[in-house]
Amino acid sequence: MTLEAIRYRSGSLQILNQLLLPHETVYEEIRSVRDGYEAIKSMKVRGAPAIAIVGCLSLAVELHAGAGGDDIISFIRDSLCHLTSARPTAVNMGRAARELMEFSENESLEKNGPQIRESVIGWIEAMLERDVNDNKKIGNYGAQHILSGVPRDSVTILTHCNTGSLATAGYGTALGVVRSLHSLGRLKRLFCTETRPYNQGARLTAYEALSEGIPATLITDSTAALAMREKGITVVVGADRVVANGDTANKVGTYQLAIAAKHHGIPFYVAAPSTSCDLSLESGRDIVIEERPAQELTAISGVPVAAPGIDVWNPAFDVTPHQLITGGIITELGVFLPSELQAALTGRLTAL
Ligand code: MRU
Repeated sequence: MTLEAIRYRSGSLQILNQLLLPHETVYEEIRSVRDGYEAIKSMKVRGAPAIAIVGCLSLAVELHAGAGGDDIISFIRDSLCHLTSARPTAVNMGRAARELMEFSENESLEKNGPQIRESVIGWIEAMLERDVNDNKKIGNYGAQHILSGVPRDSVTILTHCNTGSLATAGYGTALGVVRSLHSLGRLKRLFCTETRPYNQGARLTAYEALSEGIPATLITDSTAALAMREKGITVVVGADRVVANGDTANKVGTYQLAIAAKHHGIPFYVAAPSTSCDLSLESGRDIVIEERPAQELTAISGVPVAAPGIDVWNPAFDVTPHQLITGGIITELGVFLPSELQAALTGRLTAL
């Protein structure tokens, strides 16, 4: 069974409400940019590529229903600006907004309203297929690179958060590498961290692994260093934004995994499409880190677990310095050391 986070056909968009997983499988209709924004902000849909795709598709369905009227360009601009503000750390929505705005403005030089509407919808629809294709390339490049270090053995991978079909248009990035290894018969086991406070690992990655028959073991976030010492692990995580020097923002807890991996001499890989890369920022210090509400820590599924009144700091992401990314950055264009990334992507990415 392949999980579908996003169900789209012309004029209709449904998203799997990931807040209800793994206990309930409920698809919700997204009819407008406002619905898309709410779904992203509330984390019914999450994961850097999926945020951008759902955001843009929410615009496509509203355009399909005739929104924008006589001033379609202003409508597209305002909608993209609103969608980009929902979650600040992942660059994918901002990049898609920039590219789509440029495309729309160019179209408007020669086309009328209905024609612009049609071509903008077409541009957005192409994102779905492109993302799945890129993820399959990431999976393939990543698996080959990891296996080149162990020509005959199978490998044990540790991952954090959820980077699979639920976080993308399909297949996944870091979890795509795991899928590729599994389909080659070279995955011994996947260790997934529970990923507090939102439990994307326990709820989503574990669910994806079980649905696809991937041998997987759930560990608490605090077991990761021990697992590295005992289980012969390679670490592969995703990214929300990779900047020019190779520093990488990903789900909070990634940084300490990278430090522990370095301590144990274990390869640490980041898997991300080029759409998650942002060469306009020089270093990770420039990345805006989203802070989420205190209740995500003080309660689990609505049940209070913390001493009432305690102060809370809840950053959703942290930055892994490029020096700790020892395996490489796996993209749809190949696997690069952080120091090689900028040269590899220059000329292939639109400026942000
Ligand atoms: O807060 P989330 O669930 O959106 O965080 C997701 C992550 O950090 C993922 O690792 C990242 O977006 C890559 S998804 C392919």
